[in-house]
Amino acid sequence: MSDLYAVIGNPVAHSKSPAIHAAFAQSSSQDIDYKRLFCELGAFNATVQGFRAAGGKGLNVTLPFKHEAFELATRRSARAEQAGAVNTLSFDGDDIAGDNTDGAGLTRDITANLGRALRGKSILLLGAGGASYGVVGPLLGEAPAVLVIANRTLSKAEALVQRFAALAGACRLTASGYAALGGQHFDVVINATSAGLAGDMPQLPERAFAPQALAYEMVYGKTTPFMQFAQAHGATVADGLGMLVEQAAESFFVWRGVRPQTAPVLAALRGETSAARTAD
Ligand code: ATR
Repeated sequence: MSDLYAVIGNPVAHSKSPAIHAAFAQSSSQDIDYKRLFCELGAFNATVQGFRAAGGKGLNVTLPFKHEAFELATRRSARAEQAGAVNTLSFDGDDIAGDNTDGAGLTRDITANLGRALRGKSILLLGAGGASYGVVGPLLGEAPAVLVIANRTLSKAEALVQRFAALAGACRLTASGYAALGGQHFDVVINATSAGLAGDMPQLPERAFAPQALAYEMVYGKTTPFMQFAQAHGATVADGLGMLVEQAAESFFVWRGVRPQTAPVLAALRGETSAARTAD
């Protein structure tokens, strides 16, 4: 029998994960069966335990259960601890291992797919919600020279900076409001806010983009105001579809010990994808 995996969420019908993992399994000759698992609010633990009892080997966890998955895990990876959230569960006997592959998905998309090294660069991260918590650790792991976290509500950006201060090393890690960004410009600007899904964007100063800057939008499946603004100001624009595929590949690696090819899957998904945000 195939090893059983699923993505658990509410809603979950829109999830691309079954198609992505099926493609990974086929290209890497792994015998897995990957399903969608809808979960009622308040029933996360019972649903996970039922899936385990049915022989499930692992789960991807999406909205709104990443914190409950964090609590349920009996051991957690360093990057899950840093993020304070879990998007990948692995079942091994009585053990429930929790991991978070969102940040690794982002950095791999930027460095491998988009060909942008982050070492020594200046990065502006927009937003200080759960999506940002998931990516700050892996971004710092790339050793940028500067990481500014900007948020509409400054106190949230400050709390995020404080949480990661010990991991910053030589990187200048600071919090900011949008207006206070002033004339600073950045090599990479990452939009981790949820504004794009509502057709909105943070109040970003026009000069935020350095020449040849990369503007990275975590939303995929639509052109957001941030993407339009970035393009109008000379940046190269990427959406979050590559992060979606790369975080899935990282989960696949956690479960199977095999790194699947991502480029064919990413190419197949382009153009047939409705709007969502990767880190959700
Ligand atoms: P998530 O966990 O999905 O990241 P969240 O915790 O609700 O969601 O955070 C959403 C982020 O998007 C926050 O940083 C939020 O800014 P505030 O903390 O100031 O609320 C940001 N955000 C949402 N809509 C926005 C908008 N129209 N302009 C700027 N920032 C916005």
